[in-house]
Amino acid sequence: QQTTSASDDVYKIEYDNGVAWLSLNRPDKRNCMNPTLNARMHDALDEVEADDRCGVVVLTGEGSAFSAGMDLKEYFRETEAKGPLAVRRAQRDSYGWWRRLRWLEKPTIAMVNGWCFGGAFAPLYACDLAVAADEAQFGLSEINWGILPGGGATKIVEQLMTQRQAMYYILTGEMMGGKKAAELGLVNESVPLAELKTRVRQIADVLLEKNPVTVKAAKDAFKRVIDMTYDNAEDYLVVRQEAANFLDKTEGRKEGIRQFIDEKSYKPGLSSYRR
Ligand code: ACO
Repeated sequence: QQTTSASDDVYKIEYDNGVAWLSLNRPDKRNCMNPTLNARMHDALDEVEADDRCGVVVLTGEGSAFSAGMDLKEYFRETEAKGPLAVRRAQRDSYGWWRRLRWLEKPTIAMVNGWCFGGAFAPLYACDLAVAADEAQFGLSEINWGILPGGGATKIVEQLMTQRQAMYYILTGEMMGGKKAAELGLVNESVPLAELKTRVRQIADVLLEKNPVTVKAAKDAFKRVIDMTYDNAEDYLVVRQEAANFLDKTEGRKEGIRQFIDEKSYKPGLSSYRR
């Protein structure tokens, strides 16, 4: 059950046993994001969201980079030369696919295989989970060429790191490896590059065992409560669970209770119910 989309496109999708491996595919340009790629990624997300072969999306990069950030030539210089409307359009396309990715119907994992600079922090953050190679290099390099980390990057490090750490990387543009990125909370964990795909596959397989309606509810709930007061969150979580009960036509939670209490076939503290 493996299919791959055209290899000359700016993205590639390979379906393999429940996982859609979605790769940015401009390896010669270190997968930096130009307006074409940003526009096409909307199609890529439409595709994986609708395809039943995909239960988990892994976002990664072809070649030596995850992504070298925005394309300084095409996204900045050439777009700016076309005027402010072209700039806004380019921003809509890039911010738009990152937002789509953040709220995708299916769980997402960023597999950071190499260089990850500037604007690449946005798709990294948009993914629900992130695993890096120890060999990967992360950096807010914006300061090195004269801009502040925009496109969400400043907000992202404010959300994920301590204030001291975030300010340090914003102002110095210093790179960090995978292990440091994990220590600071930018990714969940870091493993040697040779083991990266195997580790991501393991995590994806765990997610694939879960009830997909519950996974979508749980990830959205977590992302929504970040900006809520405690009382609003408490109420929202009740309502969101009730919506999930309605959406889950398999009535998974009743089945989960039945297999534990009546059938005694599993223990929820130790594993998932059988779907
Ligand atoms: N924008 C435009 N072109 C890029 C970018 C980019 N962000 N990154 C790489 N490229 C191009 C290079 O110009 C080069 O093109 P060429 O073959 O036509 O000359 C090609 O990709 C390969 O790049 P090299 O620099 O030769 O690759 P190398 O492996 O030696 O270095 C590295 C990789 C460190 C990622 C380097 O390319 C680099 O510093 N890129 C820019 C990273 C960056 O700061 N991005 C912007 C972040 S800020 C933001 O996103 C808003």
